[in-house]
Amino acid sequence: MCGIVGYIGKEQAAPIILDGLARLEYRGYDSAGMAVYDGEKICTRKAIGRLKVLENITRGGESMPGTCGIGHTRWATHGAPSQRNAHPHTNEAGTIALVHNGIIENYIPLKKKMEEKGYRFVSETDTEVLAHLLDYYYRQDPLEAITKVLHRVEGSYALGILFADHPGEIYAARKDSPLIVGQNDTGCLIASDVPAILKYTRTVYYMENQEVAVLRGDSLSFYSMDEEEVAKEPATIDWDADAAEKAGYEHFMLKEMYEQPRTIVDTVSPRLRDNGGEKDITIEELNMTDEELKAVRKIHIVACGSAYHAGVTGKYVLEGLARIPVEVDLASEYRYRNPLLEEGSLVIVISQSGETADTLAALRESKARGIRVLGIVNVVGSSIAREADACLYTWAGPEIAVATTKAYSAQLAALYLLAMKFGRVRGVLTDTEFRSLSDSLKCLPDQIELLLGQKQKIQRFANRYLGARDIFFIGRGIDYAISLEGSLKLKEISYIHSEAYAAGELKHGTISLIEDGTLVVAVSTQPELYQKTISNIVEVKARGAFVMAVTNEENKAVEKVSDYVVYLPGTHPRFTNSLAIIPLQLFAYYVALGRGCDVDKPRNLAKSVTVE
Ligand code: AGP
Repeated sequence: MCGIVGYIGKEQAAPIILDGLARLEYRGYDSAGMAVYDGEKICTRKAIGRLKVLENITRGGESMPGTCGIGHTRWATHGAPSQRNAHPHTNEAGTIALVHNGIIENYIPLKKKMEEKGYRFVSETDTEVLAHLLDYYYRQDPLEAITKVLHRVEGSYALGILFADHPGEIYAARKDSPLIVGQNDTGCLIASDVPAILKYTRTVYYMENQEVAVLRGDSLSFYSMDEEEVAKEPATIDWDADAAEKAGYEHFMLKEMYEQPRTIVDTVSPRLRDNGGEKDITIEELNMTDEELKAVRKIHIVACGSAYHAGVTGKYVLEGLARIPVEVDLASEYRYRNPLLEEGSLVIVISQSGETADTLAALRESKARGIRVLGIVNVVGSSIAREADACLYTWAGPEIAVATTKAYSAQLAALYLLAMKFGRVRGVLTDTEFRSLSDSLKCLPDQIELLLGQKQKIQRFANRYLGARDIFFIGRGIDYAISLEGSLKLKEISYIHSEAYAAGELKHGTISLIEDGTLVVAVSTQPELYQKTISNIVEVKARGAFVMAVTNEENKAVEKVSDYVVYLPGTHPRFTNSLAIIPLQLFAYYVALGRGCDVDKPRNLAKSVTVE
C-alpha cells in the first residue's frame, strides 16, 4: 500500500515528512515524492526507487523550505513505477497538489470526461484524475471542491491535498483507505498509519469514511461530505513502533489475513461493474479481444507453491465456468519437460512477487514457443509483470509475511474473474448464472470477515495439536486444491509434517500412515461429493484418526462422523476455496504461534525465490 505523511506547523515540513515516510517503508513502495508550500508556490519533487533517492535530491528536505507539505511513497497499482507516475500529482497550473492511497475504480470514465474538457494527463495513474477534477470544481473554496469531487468518485482513497492559495492549510479525506490525523505543540500531521507520526505525537484522530479534515498550524477541523462540521475525540496511541507497523496485530501474517476482505474488494470491484443494471466484467489489462478469448482452446497454468495451489483451484473454476481444458504445472517441472503447447493455447503464470525464477523461466519458455502468456501478479512492474504479454494485477498491496495469505486470496479472485469473463464471452454462462456468480463474488469479503471472527475457537483447537507429528488434509475436486494450500500453510510456518491428499486416493497407500489420534482435516464443500467425503472420513476414523471437518453449513451429516466441524457460509460451489482457506490459515497460524515459531519469517524460506 502507499504511504502518506503531511505536516503543517512551526517546523520545516520536508524533514518531518521524509522521516515519517521512512517509517512507512515496511509497506513496500517503488517511488516517492513531496510537495511543500515555499511561501509563494507549491514545490514538488519526485523520485523513483528508494526513499534515499528523494532524500538525496532534496538534501534531506533542505532544498524544499516551508512549514506546510505532503509526502508519499507509492505502491504501484495503475501505471508502472516511474517518475511521472509517482505522487504528488498536480493540476496543470501546479496550484493544487495531492497524494493518494487507494484505487479510484471509475477513473477511466472520469479521465475520458476530463480529457474531453481539455485536461491533459501526464501520468498513467488513477490518482491524477482527482487533481484535474479538483481544478475543475475549484472556486477558491477547497472544502466545496473536495466534496464535489468525492461525490463523483467510486473506490477507495486516503488523500492529502494542498491548495496554493490556502498556504496555511492541509486538506485530508478518506474512504476505505486508512488515514489518521495527529497534533502536537508545534503543529498538525496526517499519516496513512501510526508508525509515521509516533515520534511526533501519540494524540491521534482516526478519520471515518467520507470525512474531510482541515489542518492548520494550530487547529484541526473535521467535516462531513455535506460540509457540516464534525466533532471528534482524540485517541492516545500506546503501541511501540514495532507493534505499530503491524497495526497492532502480533504478526504481519495475521494482519494480512485480516486484510483479505479488502484485498478481494480491491481486486474485484474495479473489474466487476454495473453497466446500466447489467453486471459485466471489464479486465482492461487482459489485452485480448472477445474473439481472441473465444479462440483459446487450452489453458496451461504454471506457478510455484501457493500460487500453484491457486492454479489448481483455477483449473476447477475455469473448466467449470468456461468449459476450457486446463492443465496445471509446477513451474520447476514445466520449464524442463519440453511442454506440448498446441496452437490456441494460453499460458497463465501466477506469482505474488513477479520474480520467482522458475515461474519467470516458464514464462520465457512459453513465449519462445510463440504462446501468449498472461500474468497474474501482485507486484506492479515486476519482471513477470513486464515480460508477460498481459498482466492481471492482484491489488493485495505489499505482502510482508513469507507465508502468503492475502495475495493467494486475491489470486483466487482474479481467476474467478477470468473464468467468468471466458464463460460469458464463450456463451457458456447464462445471464442468470453470471448474475449469481457476481452476487456470490460480492459477498465473499463479508463472509471472510465472518470466518476470521472465529479465530479464538480455531486457536483453542490448534493448541491441542502443537505436538502433532503428522497432520493430513484431504478433499475431493476443488476441496483437494484447498487441502494442498492448507497443508502448505501448516508446514511452512509450524514445521509439522503434513500432506494433502485427494480423499479418494487414501486407500491407495497413505491410509497406512493413519494411527490413533492422527489429525485429518477433511474439506467438503461440494454437495455432489458430500457422501463420498463422509465415506473417506469414516475410513480414517476407523483407523483411529481425529477428524476436523471444514464444510458448508447445510452439510450437517458430516457432524455425525467428525470430531470437530468448522462450518462455512454458503457461496457458489466454485468459490468455496476462498472461504475454506480462512480456518486453515488460522489453524496453521495458531499452531505455529503455539510452537513458538517465527511466523512471519519461517526458517529456510524467502518471500521470493529468485534463484532456481
Ligand atoms: C507460500 O506461502 C510460499 N511463500 C511460497 O510457496 C510461494 O507461494 C511461492 O514461492 C511462489 O511465490 P510467488 O507467488 O511470489 O511466485
